[in-house]
Amino acid sequence: TGHTALDYGFVNTAATKSAITFIDGDEGILRYRGYPIEQLAKNSSYLEVAWLLIYGELPTGDQLGEFDEKIRRHTLIHEDLKHFFSALPHTAHPMSVLSSAVSALSTYYEGQSDPHNPEHVELNTIRMLAKLPVLAAYAHKKSIGQAFLYPDNSLSFVDNFLKLNFGVLSEEYVANPVMSRALERLLILHEDHEQNASTSTVRLVGSTGANQFSSISAGINALYGPLHGGANEAVLDMLGKIRDSGEGVKRFVERVKNKEDGVKLMGFGHRVYKNYDPRAKLVKESADEVLAELGVKDPLLDLAKELEEIALNDEYFQSRRLYPNVDFYTGVIYKAMGFPTRMFTVLFAIGRLPGWLAHWNELNTDPQTKIGRPQQLYTGAPERNYPGM
Ligand code: CMC
Repeated sequence: TGHTALDYGFVNTAATKSAITFIDGDEGILRYRGYPIEQLAKNSSYLEVAWLLIYGELPTGDQLGEFDEKIRRHTLIHEDLKHFFSALPHTAHPMSVLSSAVSALSTYYEGQSDPHNPEHVELNTIRMLAKLPVLAAYAHKKSIGQAFLYPDNSLSFVDNFLKLNFGVLSEEYVANPVMSRALERLLILHEDHEQNASTSTVRLVGSTGANQFSSISAGINALYGPLHGGANEAVLDMLGKIRDSGEGVKRFVERVKNKEDGVKLMGFGHRVYKNYDPRAKLVKESADEVLAELGVKDPLLDLAKELEEIALNDEYFQSRRLYPNVDFYTGVIYKAMGFPTRMFTVLFAIGRLPGWLAHWNELNTDPQTKIGRPQQLYTGAPERNYPGM
């Protein structure tokens, strides 16, 4: 059609209005429902921010208490679903395991997943928030060959998650409060980021009338890619390779600049942030603090700092306005907490879940919503005849 504008990567096209998250990429501003990310990261909790994103306001103490209680009551995974994990190789990437497990989870709630039934939507919101961390921890346990633990509903959201990951049968596990707080803070920083690739995926799938489980499973797959959530894993791999190859940071940066083998500086650059990523600033502050408090000394953190320093002073990165993004320093912290590298993007998924749920809701309650159906500009062959016709 003559009026179709071509916009690779949706750089200039808004597909929706949204009242959830505000970003000013030039000023480095991020707000959830109007509240600055810095204030939420300092004072709030994962579940409080989840409520804020999903329902639009901060909850009262009673509302938050009830929400928390409901989520604790829904953490159990059907015993049959646990067998699902046995069918997968232990070498499977936990992100593939997680997205498949969320799809599989939906089969337990068929008949209770009508996007137009507010009771179903509410219940599945609770189910997703309660069960995703448990499925994530099982993906972790599976990959290291350890037994799954039952959720301990006397614990807070984050402590329960840490215990499911790091506890072992028949031994007491008490989460280190420094680690709990640091993880909670990181999860809050990831909770929403307006129309990023995975959220847009959730919205596109949701626009077809698909339920929350199907839409979010698709979102997890979109997040897995190294240019999106997979970057936190890719950063650690990159740092490890630089260290092991002995090539030195300067030489590595040269290779990035020359675009040798398409190598990029992972954890740098952002579609929207062109001066700095406010999340990266908060994560960097945490990194030193957390490593010091956990008593971990990681040469990869020093390497990351050296890399950042060199890149920030280099004309290539300056002229393209490339700065560290949220993924640059998170991996170093997750590693210090004891998570294997392949779990990093899974942690991002748990963080992003409330945003996905909020966007799915916003889409489904907006009377202007239409099925998402982009245009194309056709560049193929003109009409031609099948041989013999
Ligand atoms: N290293 C080296 N060069 C880069 C990088 C990088 N990380 N990012 C962008 N560039 C270059 C790019 O090659 C291009 O150069 P030129 O003009 O010479 O062709 C220029 O900068 C503009 O980049 P772009 O690819 O047009 O930018 P985009 O908005 O399409 O991509 C991005 C944004 C995040 C995908 C990209 O910066 C990137 O691949 N970064 C590395 C992966 C990463 O860290 N992703 C996490 C993003 S933040 C959290 C999340 O979403 O999960």
